[in-house]
Amino acid sequence: RRVATAHTIADLRRLARVRTPAGPFHYVDGGAEEEVSMRRARQAFADIVFHPGILRDVHDVDTTTSVLGGTSALPFGFGPTGGTRMMHAAGEQAVARVAARTGIPYALSTVGTTTIADFAAASGSGRRWFQMYLLADRDRSLHMLAEAERRGFDALIVTVDVPTGGNRLRDLRYGMSYPPQLTPRTFLDASWRVGWWFDLLTTEPYRFTYEEQADAGSGITTLTGFYDDRVTFDDLAWMREAWSGPIVIKGIQTFDDASRAADAGADGIVLSNHGGRQLDRTAPPLHLLPTVAARHGASMEVMLDTGVRTGADVVAAIAAGASFVLVGRAYLYGLMAGGEAGVERAAHILRTEVERTMRLLGVRSIAELGPEHVTLLTRTQPVAVE
Ligand code: FNR
Repeated sequence: RRVATAHTIADLRRLARVRTPAGPFHYVDGGAEEEVSMRRARQAFADIVFHPGILRDVHDVDTTTSVLGGTSALPFGFGPTGGTRMMHAAGEQAVARVAARTGIPYALSTVGTTTIADFAAASGSGRRWFQMYLLADRDRSLHMLAEAERRGFDALIVTVDVPTGGNRLRDLRYGMSYPPQLTPRTFLDASWRVGWWFDLLTTEPYRFTYEEQADAGSGITTLTGFYDDRVTFDDLAWMREAWSGPIVIKGIQTFDDASRAADAGADGIVLSNHGGRQLDRTAPPLHLLPTVAARHGASMEVMLDTGVRTGADVVAAIAAGASFVLVGRAYLYGLMAGGEAGVERAAHILRTEVERTMRLLGVRSIAELGPEHVTLLTRTQPVAVE
């Protein structure tokens, strides 16, 4: 299989670029404005300095960790990404099967392209989380929460960094719209991607996660007014009523907001700038991590995402204080490169890299990773994004 030739996530990205029409590829690959947030996040990982311990017995390495009251076979999970079936028709269900087989959690997005029921069926006995954008339509929000709870989703991830969409310039340049539109340009670009078309035409049409039976297939063509842009920390109380499991706030970008989330009683936060897709020129989440973990790590899960492309990045984030890591693009590149087999390859690559990095650092378990294993250097020169 072609994806077997990929040895890194960057290799999968190269395969993805060939196979996927420019619209969806750049929708995944790009960030907001000048993509400074995105490059900085990669720079922060490039600037990690590892301090390995030698002559430790590392024959048996255990990558298992606990997160939000359950276990995960690896210290990372698959984060929520909207519109996943646009990247490859196999979409969320393929990703859910891989996550379940790998033993890691996967979060379904509010703007996913699979229903809550179908996602749950694909995920089977795997751990599944539900990502919520609070909608202006509270009834619809409540309906989704009840359905997710009923279908065995064990944590709620509330994403708070999208009061409005980021300015994703590549989407404008490559004619990407949401949901996708067929224009002469997108048609020409897509026409020679035979595999992508074949998959699209031989599977069921998209069904957005937020759609209810009544409006199935209608698609909501603009997100303006769809997301609630009046949400505040006070709404956490409202969500507590509607959701009995743990609640994680995703998209925290300052020390102050981390404290507010803790005061509001969140079970966890994700330090994240949405993969650099929202406000540009924000802090790399990795730079916030040591301080936030020191302040709040004992009372809530302090997770991180944005810019994670290797297992070594995952290990570095854990050593710097994260309790868990989410990846977004890393598995989407795999999906675009080769459907379910590509996601499997992405998981395999990351797992191998996590294990190897732990051995080379001289640690046998996730709990042994600590600040003595990393120094974060900070500098501002840009680095190429791969
Ligand atoms: C996202 N992300 C995202 N987050 C969320 O809470 N709900 C969503 O629907 C989406 N949709 C989405 C689509 C695509 C194509 C991408 C790349 C990302 C953000 C995602 O959960 C995560 O924060 C970032 O992807 C992390 O950065 P990396 O790992 O992609 O660098």
